[in-house]
Amino acid sequence: MRKILFFSNNKNKVIEIKKIFKKFNLELLSLNDFNINYEPKEDGQTFEENAKIKSEFGFKKTGIPCFADDSGICIESLNWKPGVLSKRFLNNFKSKEACFKSIIKSIKHTGKKNAYFKTSISLTINNNQNILFNGKIVGKISNQAKGEFGFGYDPIFIPKYYNKTLAELSTVEKNKISHRSIAVTKLVNFVSN
Ligand code: IMP
Repeated sequence: MRKILFFSNNKNKVIEIKKIFKKFNLELLSLNDFNINYEPKEDGQTFEENAKIKSEFGFKKTGIPCFADDSGICIESLNWKPGVLSKRFLNNFKSKEACFKSIIKSIKHTGKKNAYFKTSISLTINNNQNILFNGKIVGKISNQAKGEFGFGYDPIFIPKYYNKTLAELSTVEKNKISHRSIAVTKLVNFVSN
């Protein structure tokens, strides 16, 4: 069975991706299978750059084809930020609710409601050989936070053609349309062929 390393410390992501890879006769390894307890600094300006920093690092350490992902939300009323700083932006508020309130205020103030989530996956198969897979979901910021499912910015994001936030959709429904699943599907199609 071919081996591939997923460079992530996020247990939930590893479990989710392992399930997908099983179907394709690919053995998915994670950082747990190696003694890698140091992660490179994610100081790229784009999702693609950050994903590549991690996948190249994993390949250099192990010699095994390695992929890594980076995701976030880009909000028109915030000049398409926070982008690569999505996690930090949310954590800088005293609560999620305070962050959502501030974003909703900015859309009311500017009248700009558009937003999108993006995932970039970088797969390093050799020195200086990286392949990128992107996934994007476009939509709008809602007028109020709603829903209990999901994580991060899901309660304030309404996907295009929907009238519910991502946090009001079940995980199964979200996975059918999400930026992450689009990028993962592209990766799986590539590595399983
Ligand atoms: P990561 O690169 O996948 O760890 O994502 C970075 C940050 O972007 C997360 O901590 C969330 O705040 C935000 N984010 C990424 N994907 C999603 C999503 O599907 N829903 C909500 N927030 C997300």
